[in-house]
Amino acid sequence: MPLVTTKEMFKKAYEGGYAIGAFNINNMEILQGVLRAAKAKKSPVILQCSTGAIKYAGPQMLKAMVDAAVKEAGVDVALHLDHGPDIEAVKMVIDAGFTSVMFDGSHYDYEENVAKTKEVVEYAHARGVVVEAELGVLAGVEDDVEAAEHVYTEPAQAVDFVKRTGCDSLAIAIGTSHGAFKFPPDFKPQLKFDILEEIQKQLPGFPIVLHGASAVDPDAVATCNQYGGAIKDAKGIPEEMLRKASSMAVCKINMDTDLRLAMTAAIRKVFGDTPAEFDPRKYLGAGRDAVQKVVEYKIDNILGSTDAMNK
Ligand code: G3H
Ligand code: 13P
Ligand code: ZN
Repeated sequence: MPLVTTKEMFKKAYEGGYAIGAFNINNMEILQGVLRAAKAKKSPVILQCSTGAIKYAGPQMLKAMVDAAVKEAGVDVALHLDHGPDIEAVKMVIDAGFTSVMFDGSHYDYEENVAKTKEVVEYAHARGVVVEAELGVLAGVEDDVEAAEHVYTEPAQAVDFVKRTGCDSLAIAIGTSHGAFKFPPDFKPQLKFDILEEIQKQLPGFPIVLHGASAVDPDAVATCNQYGGAIKDAKGIPEEMLRKASSMAVCKINMDTDLRLAMTAAIRKVFGDTPAEFDPRKYLGAGRDAVQKVVEYKIDNILGSTDAMNK
């Protein structure tokens, strides 16, 4: 099956009260783990590459691997640029064959974000590619830049932004955060569902995106630490909040940290349990299986997209 855009996926997800998982890929094992899970669960999926991933593997290599893997997947797959910093990055991935791009202008002032997003939308739409934009700032680390405070998205501004830019989906800030260390250990995470509800009311049918949505499984962290890791005070988004968001206007949920933790835990365990092992297929294979397991879990228990390909 060829790659698709997210247009139809989001329409079905919105109407069906579920969300599509967007998982960051950096190499073959993560890619295969994600797509094997999507295939097993008959769920559409979004594969996304950050600029860091593109620097690491190269856009052509990523696209070629994705094309090869998608042939066996048998489910709808979109290939998306995560946190595109500028129009040059967007142009590069569109040339490489990505079907969806994010332009992240959330760090610019409002008018600059509108103008730059509009330019990206015009370029992408002329080439059949969809655009995710961002309004509001998430706390946490993005591409090595740390924002200490949330700047929550204002619903009225979101309406104006969508109208003026023509973007196809909007990432909003309602209290999620990037990375493994989202909150202090004793903090009770809260998402601002009142903001989401208001946006949903004012932009009916419009797909909303949540970034920074890893749950940060304490078992994965414990396994990493048991086998020589030093990952302290990691804390993520409670699963029930993500389930609730999936049933609302949120059509895309981004998760990367949970895959990294699962893969790292599995690889550390192989090294710890079998110190004489030096065949990369043994430890990378265990990492790949761990990624698949996590993605299957998310599809069934958080996103609700299980069997969506059959509906
Ligand atoms: O939002 C950021 C993603 O987790 C990608 O992270 O820039 O280290 O690839 P990265
Ligand atoms: P996490 O760090 O919570 O996995 O978020 C990933 C993300 O938002 C990628 O864009
Ligand atoms: Zn993100």
